[in-house]
Amino acid sequence: MKKYHLAIIGATGLVGETLLKVLIEENLLDNFEITMFGSEKSTGKIMIYAGKEYRINFLNEKINFKKFDLAFFLAGDEISKKWANYFSNAGAFVIDNSNAFRRENFVPLVVPEININLINEKTKIIANPNCSTIELVLALSCIKKVAKIKRVVVSTYQSVSGAGKEALFDLKNKTKLILEEGISNNLISYIGKKLDSGFCTEEDKIMFETSKILGEEINLCASTVRVPITNCHLESVFVEFEEDVLADEIKGAISGKNIFYSDEIVLPTDLASSNDTFVFRMRQFGKREIAFFVLADNLRRGASFNAVLIAKHLLNKNFFNEHVKN
Ligand SMILES: NC(=O)c1ccc[n+]([C@@H]2O[C@H](COP(=O)([O-])OP(=O)(O)OC[C@H]3O[C@@H](n4cnc5c(N)ncnc54)[C@H](OP(=O)(O)O)[C@@H]3O)[C@@H](O)[C@H]2O)c1
Repeated sequence: MKKYHLAIIGATGLVGETLLKVLIEENLLDNFEITMFGSEKSTGKIMIYAGKEYRINFLNEKINFKKFDLAFFLAGDEISKKWANYFSNAGAFVIDNSNAFRRENFVPLVVPEININLINEKTKIIANPNCSTIELVLALSCIKKVAKIKRVVVSTYQSVSGAGKEALFDLKNKTKLILEEGISNNLISYIGKKLDSGFCTEEDKIMFETSKILGEEINLCASTVRVPITNCHLESVFVEFEEDVLADEIKGAISGKNIFYSDEIVLPTDLASSNDTFVFRMRQFGKREIAFFVLADNLRRGASFNAVLIAKHLLNKNFFNEHVKN
């Protein structure tokens, strides 16, 4: 089997470690010769996956970027802004999990079940959407097949792993290193930074990204809350339509690859190692309105699994061989 060269930047983080698990689960590890990168403090550390040892490297200008076919960026906005172009200009595809390129017109913002067709052999940088956006758009993409959406109101209940491994340290040790209000026994009703608009960056991401991914302007108001659980993001969603709808008809439309509907509640503890998205407890409010919950694993569906689905597409389409290297 031909092996392609893969760089994982942020391999020692929560998304990085989950990505390696998903690559193994999807039987993709053998397709790649992997070079892992972390921060300076992890340099030289050995990680073991599927019985093989990987040494953690530090990014620098002397790296032979031309050897890479694909780079996953899982290390935050600043690292992506500084280093993604080194890989893409040398001919690698970049799948970026940060917010660095999501708003660029030339960068496709991809949820494979919805808009994988935006990627071709000439694409250089592919953006993975925000974790809360992915599960929401998966649900809305099914729903909008039944009736035209007039307005969406979403409130999120987002786990601490969404803020990275140091935030998990805050949760476990009752510290305030990342989540400065303290997350232990608390609810923090903004995520990211507060903007002049009054919204926070997480809300702004969901509102912008939903329209970009669905390819139409969605009138959406988001409120985001950090809750003191380890993993999974729950969202309470209210949708108003342009026409009369029946909740039962919409429930029936929520089926597809990797998304399921349930009348029963679904708990984060039910989701162990699941890459699926669950829509549940749909209620009819008025003739034109429904309410429901959506739940998914932020580290899997909201980040690594989405990125791996994109990589799988690049492999299946033979795009690594057709990609023109500079
Ligand atoms: N967590 C989620 O649910 C989620 C969901 C969607 C998207 N994302 C995005 O995915 C990315 C990673 O998130 P995370 O939760 O995995 O964060 P994390 O647990 O804090 O991990 C951050 C990773 O970045 C690495 N890093 C830091 N500085 C670096 C440098 N100078 N060069 C190379 N690597 C460096 C860290 O290495 P060390 O271990 O050496 O510090 C670590 O591997 C972020 O962009 C985040 O916004 C996260």
